[in-house]
Amino acid sequence: MFRYLPEQASTFAPDVDWIHHWITDISVFFTVAIFGAAVLFAIIYRRRDGKDHKTPQILGDHKLEAIWTVVPTIICIFVAVEGLLVYRDIRTPPDKAMELSVTADQFSWSFEYPNGKKTLNEVTVPVGEPVRFTMRSKDVIHSFFVPAMRVKSDVLPSIFTRVWFEPVKTGRYQGYCTEYCGAGHSTMLFSVNVVSGAEYDRWLNDDSQEFMMSRMGAEEKGMALYEQQNCITCHSVDGSRKVGPSFAGLWGKKEKLTDGTEVTVDENYIESSIVNPNLQIVMGYGPLMPSYEGQLPIEDIKALISYIKSLEKTTIAPASADPVAAAPVDRSKLTPPELGKLLVQEKACGACHSVDGNKLIGPTFKGLYGRKGKLADGSSYEADDEYLKHSILEPMAQVVEGFAPSMPSFQGQLSEEEIASIIAYIKTVN
Ligand code: CUA
Repeated sequence: MFRYLPEQASTFAPDVDWIHHWITDISVFFTVAIFGAAVLFAIIYRRRDGKDHKTPQILGDHKLEAIWTVVPTIICIFVAVEGLLVYRDIRTPPDKAMELSVTADQFSWSFEYPNGKKTLNEVTVPVGEPVRFTMRSKDVIHSFFVPAMRVKSDVLPSIFTRVWFEPVKTGRYQGYCTEYCGAGHSTMLFSVNVVSGAEYDRWLNDDSQEFMMSRMGAEEKGMALYEQQNCITCHSVDGSRKVGPSFAGLWGKKEKLTDGTEVTVDENYIESSIVNPNLQIVMGYGPLMPSYEGQLPIEDIKALISYIKSLEKTTIAPASADPVAAAPVDRSKLTPPELGKLLVQEKACGACHSVDGNKLIGPTFKGLYGRKGKLADGSSYEADDEYLKHSILEPMAQVVEGFAPSMPSFQGQLSEEEIASIIAYIKTVN
């Protein structure tokens, strides 16, 4: 009568739905029949003409009593037996079922595959194959619920619980934690990704970087991210000075900031420096780091923190010559290209722009002046004075094709004269 259940994505979903609908329909039928009859009789036999009618005395009718006892009994037995049979199916995983381990904690789900692969808040399973989930909680009681598969089971900190299902069609299905477990309960979601057998095998044996990373410890993963995310360009791990502070011995250090305050390098400072790098600049460095906001999940940030922690005891190389501090120069005596060259050093342009034609993060300065080419938006540019000035002040506005919009703006940090000097310097790099 009423069809409102979610998509049927497992072998026993139709059985669950059938029994559910049957119980609902028959309950609705009798409810309507009984209350309908009551209302109908109230209307037909209502008190009329101000006269009371004498109610006739009816004695027991054995036939009627037998019917209203036997029929509901049969219906109830039928519902109980059918329900038990379906329940038995749901509780009995087939022997050949693939085994997955599930760990719930506040507020996430982690899944582990037979070959050691781990995933977070997402589980990939092959279509047409029974999968058994053996579940345990790390903290409080959670509950594993995938409506499309018609499975639900509490996940406890004290004992293992199990569910199984055999998906019948590919697709992505929403899973929920369905036991109130704390403030993050409503966000404790996961998805069940049902794919073809071939796709599952490929996915399971994927040895791509992402997969390798999922199997690494936090420190190791942090080290991989350090290279992959190009932190390596600006932060050394041996104490040598690059564009940004070295990671060696950084953990726990008290850093003086450009605004005169002091900060201890801890988890929060590192996270804030990754997400919002120009907020707390260490004295002696420029606001040059692009923000990684929205680009690194919290697991990656944690991994980088672990990596930086692991470098706490790294001995620091003797402070090598800081090119700027070591050579105080009288700037008024410099020619524009000389001043430009000094500024390029000071602002660490070299971290992203080579002068030897190598492609780094940004275009090389070699032969840049007067170069013509295409921008990322398809229009063309010519690197004249105006274009270069604009690129220094508003770098994101005219990004050259093939490069990412990652340069910070130098608006307000360079005078007109300084910009002209940098352009004069670029002219000399051929
Ligand atoms: Cu976990 Cu609710």
